[in-house]
Amino acid sequence: MSVVTDTREAVPSASAAPVLVEAHELSKTFDVSAPWLNRVIERRPRQYVHAVDGVSFQIPRGTTLALVGESGCGKSTVARLLVGLYKPSRGHVRIDGEEIATTLAGPGAQALRRRMQMIFQDPYASLNPRWKVQDIVAEPLREHGLVKDGTALQRRVAELLQSVGMSPADAQKFPHQFSGGQRQRISIARALATQPEFLVCDEPTSALDVSVQAQVLNIMKDLQRERGLTYLFISHNLAVVRHVADQVGVMYLGRLVEQAEKRALFATPRHPYTRMLLDAIPDIHMTGRARTPVRGEVPNPLNPPTGCSFHPRCPHANERCQRERPALLSLHGVRVACHAVEEGRI
Ligand SMILES: Nc1ncnc2c1ncn2[C@@H]1O[C@H](COP(=O)(O)OP(=O)(O)OP(=O)(O)O)[C@@H](O)[C@H]1O
Ligand code: SF4
Ligand SMILES: [Mg+2]
Repeated sequence: MSVVTDTREAVPSASAAPVLVEAHELSKTFDVSAPWLNRVIERRPRQYVHAVDGVSFQIPRGTTLALVGESGCGKSTVARLLVGLYKPSRGHVRIDGEEIATTLAGPGAQALRRRMQMIFQDPYASLNPRWKVQDIVAEPLREHGLVKDGTALQRRVAELLQSVGMSPADAQKFPHQFSGGQRQRISIARALATQPEFLVCDEPTSALDVSVQAQVLNIMKDLQRERGLTYLFISHNLAVVRHVADQVGVMYLGRLVEQAEKRALFATPRHPYTRMLLDAIPDIHMTGRARTPVRGEVPNPLNPPTGCSFHPRCPHANERCQRERPALLSLHGVRVACHAVEEGRI
């Protein structure tokens, strides 16, 4: 009997909790062609970037899926697709069984937007510097018509600030009066205003000092526990991922190459790219294992390698890898896209 199951259609969820978010064969292609006249003069064809290419996963309610991968692998594009900021070129996103593209085009759009919010990397850029914190945090409440009465609005903002460890008095200050970590807490308070179920966090702590990162991550974990929040958490930092994730998805050039429960992924990484990323982080357990820097560079996404797009950097690549793209298969209880793993070579 084969242990190989093709999961391109059905994506099993490892958690017992019901699925809240499902990405199915999600793809996004950007047209990055030069202007028409340049193309004609220079005889250049149209050019496309497959920023996200056939990504499928499920996130059980109340859990965190972290996406990792080097710059340009498509993490932020997945984030934007999941909250409907981009329309997929192919595939779809379902929240609680509802296909979001359909709902966002209809009368249920506002109700759905309330259920999902996004937190960005740079809290300063996403907070209006001329507004008081009171107005910043109250904005989604006003926009969605959730609280109309002024006193109730103030009370709600005070509650939201307290939920992220800030003082109600902070409502009267401006963003520049706070540190980076406090500003990110204000962003979180604002994101929580509509009582969302699903938060997409795109590198939310990458701009912060390490000690502050831990505080913000702990607040996010507490909020998850208290409110049953579901997170898609994007980070290029595996130490952060280890702290927050239930499942981890590793992306390479627009595709998911491995997805596993956090413990399994850190203990037994299967894909050569996951191994390379893990080998590059300082040894958390101090076992004396040497740190191996990440080898090679991400290929140009306009001209991706044939077959397995990781083959130019992979120590296990062979002729099949250059020719045939590996499918994401369920092997050893994880999802992994690698011929060598499938063949038992590694
Ligand atoms: N609006 C856009 N127009 C054209 N190309 C884009 C656009 N957004 C992203 N891309 C391209 O799509 C690919 C994926 O980009 P994306 O921003 O999703 O990567 P990322 O994993 O978030 O990277 P980083 O870690 O640097 O934030 C890249 O090649 C990028 O240049
Ligand atoms: S399919 Fe081949 S090239 Fe790709 S990761 Fe596996 S062994 Fe390496
Ligand atoms: Mg990004």
